[in-house]
Amino acid sequence: MSRIPLIAGNWKMYKTGPEAVETARKLASLCSDIHGVEIMIAPTFLSLPLVAASVEGTPVKIGAQNLHFEKQGAFTGEVSADMIKATGAEYVIIGHSERRQYFGETDALVCKKIKSAIRAGLKPVLCVGETETQRDEEKTILVLDKQVSDGLKGCGLDELKDLILAYEPVWAIGTGKSASVDQVQQVHTYLRSLLEQLFSSEFSSQTRILYGGSVKPENVKALMGIEDVDGALVGGASLDAGTFIKIIEYNR
Ligand code: PGA
Repeated sequence: MSRIPLIAGNWKMYKTGPEAVETARKLASLCSDIHGVEIMIAPTFLSLPLVAASVEGTPVKIGAQNLHFEKQGAFTGEVSADMIKATGAEYVIIGHSERRQYFGETDALVCKKIKSAIRAGLKPVLCVGETETQRDEEKTILVLDKQVSDGLKGCGLDELKDLILAYEPVWAIGTGKSASVDQVQQVHTYLRSLLEQLFSSEFSSQTRILYGGSVKPENVKALMGIEDVDGALVGGASLDAGTFIKIIEYNR
């Protein structure tokens, strides 16, 4: 089963609306003849409709960075999956380590968000990853097992057909220190076997598993060359269209 690589840019809390549109337009013009790779950018909620409109009809797809799991209601400051979907966005990042670390997101909350994304027809990108302490204490597999099992608890196979998993070791995010090829290979092989164990071998072989954490033009080729790596989730290096296109064109 071939898995089309996805190169996704997480713009975090960077760029105003006009700045986001400018970068998105530039990126779209740079990747007009890109084939065989899916491209996604995730600007802030405020920029979503603007950016979605500015790249419509180009290979650049749009995602949100978060959502609230309720459809609507008195939840001041929150945004629902349906609202995101209505902007033209196709993806939503869920359970990013910054959300877990700074906003107290638990696996149970992540699971509700996954279900709500699926209900609205959004493709969830579920982020998992261990901290440096957890790795030092040899708890990496234990942590990932819990994040994936609890994050997808109660989800049926038919619901998960658009799921994307992203392995993002917390110690590699924004540090410039990417995980080594061996470390990534080990974890990705494990995650694929976990998906098989939890669901089915067909599902496991169809599901894309991205790597994230200090992906740059200099290391993307080696990372994408790893057997079970089906794409990258890129933070810092996705903010500049000229740099991001070098990551997208990792194969050239
Ligand atoms: P980084 O961030 O590429 O800046 O390390 C990755 C992420 O947080 O998704």
